[in-house]
Amino acid sequence: MPVARRKVRVLCATMMLNVVIFFLVGVSWNLGRDKSDRPKVRIPSKRFWRQQVPSKYFWNKEQQRLDLIYNPIFNSLPRFDSLIKLPDWLNIIRPVNPCEPDYRVPTQISDYNTLPHRFQDFFLHMRCRTYPMLINQPHVCDQKPFLLLAIKSLIPHFDQRQAIRETWGRANRIVVTVFLLGNALPVDHFPDLLGMLGHEAKLHKDVLLWDYRDTFFNLTLKDVLFLEWFSQNCPHAQYVLKGDDDVFVNTFRIIELLGGLSDIKAKDLFIGDVISDAGPQRDRKLKYFVPQSVFTGQYPAYAGGGGYLYSGELALRLRNVSRQVALYPIDDVYTGMCLKKLGLVPENHSGFKTFDIEEKYRNNPCVYRKLMLVHSRTPQDVLKIWPWITHLELDCQ
Ligand SMILES: *[C@@H]1O[C@H](CO)[C@@H](O)[C@H](O)[C@H]1NC(C)=O
Ligand SMILES: *[C@@H]1O[C@H](CO)[C@@H](O)[C@H](O)[C@H]1NC(C)=O
Ligand SMILES: *[C@@H]1O[C@H](CO)[C@@H](O)[C@H](O)[C@H]1NC(C)=O
Repeated sequence: MPVARRKVRVLCATMMLNVVIFFLVGVSWNLGRDKSDRPKVRIPSKRFWRQQVPSKYFWNKEQQRLDLIYNPIFNSLPRFDSLIKLPDWLNIIRPVNPCEPDYRVPTQISDYNTLPHRFQDFFLHMRCRTYPMLINQPHVCDQKPFLLLAIKSLIPHFDQRQAIRETWGRANRIVVTVFLLGNALPVDHFPDLLGMLGHEAKLHKDVLLWDYRDTFFNLTLKDVLFLEWFSQNCPHAQYVLKGDDDVFVNTFRIIELLGGLSDIKAKDLFIGDVISDAGPQRDRKLKYFVPQSVFTGQYPAYAGGGGYLYSGELALRLRNVSRQVALYPIDDVYTGMCLKKLGLVPENHSGFKTFDIEEKYRNNPCVYRKLMLVHSRTPQDVLKIWPWITHLELDCQ
């Protein structure tokens, strides 16, 4: 008994001591804080943001201009234009019609005359983002598909498209496929296939054709035009798989993956074969060469353009934000830039094989059961592989 009583007394004493310390600390803290010591809100009397210095690199400078135009703080000011005078260098290239070639560009790029022609051409037309549609399918999404397959193709690729229709892109209750096509200019000397394409479009009702020149550098334009089309014609599709016409897609695995997503994850979904820590290639002989005079910096993480998967909701946000990102001649990098602007990072998924799989597995039917997408495959390959994943009697354990 006495032991217990002593314990209680010690406990009471400790508590009292705590109360006293607490009180003393509180008083000393308050004494140290005179009213005049309170942190003041300082209102600067002059402009306090950094003066913009024009970038020496053409794309970066164009992006600076867009960053200023879409700056949310400036935009919330009632009379933005009169309050902030754009520096002259930001205004310098402003053609009346963004779709007229901009002949002031050559004076803006230090080595314009020695650039490969495709760059000269790209930058002359860089501000134009609207081209007329020659073939549309305004009702293709009337049933609100679960998954829209948006496949970048070229007019002459009739067999690629047909192989896809007969296999992984076969339209059904939940999947809708569209092929994204641009046109050719007479200077490119292509035989005229538009008549044939017209028949194909009538027959399958899955062809979208815009009137711009379908080149490698204009794939970014294809992306922007597709996002615009999506927001007008297919905004309720839950997911989009955007890919090339020379890939094999395991549609079942894709649908299985999407079916298992939580709502949170589904909203911001963007997955593919992610490349990070990349930057522009400076070797003129490479396909992805970009000269120093037009771009400096690292690329954001981006998913290889062979094929990636994202939510329809995100497609709508990408469409909105793309206006704020200057067109870049490499389309998958451009999409990475748009994602970054939205504060998102693409997720790496080992099932997306845009750099193909090891040679020794390429003829192993069971390997295709597990993957999502593989690049590249010919139409004949696609027709050969498809039964491997649809004929379930094949034992893959
Ligand atoms: C992109 O398409 C436009 C419109 O047809 C064309 O004027 C331009 O030359 C194309 N750009 C490239 C780099 O091919
Ligand atoms: C896209 O922009 C439009 C117009 O500014 C806006 O109404 C819409 O909510 C935006 N959509 C998304 C998904 O952010
Ligand atoms: C993504 O995953 C693949 C393997 O599937 C790997 O080779 C690649 O390095 C990964 N990328 C990143 C950015 O982690």
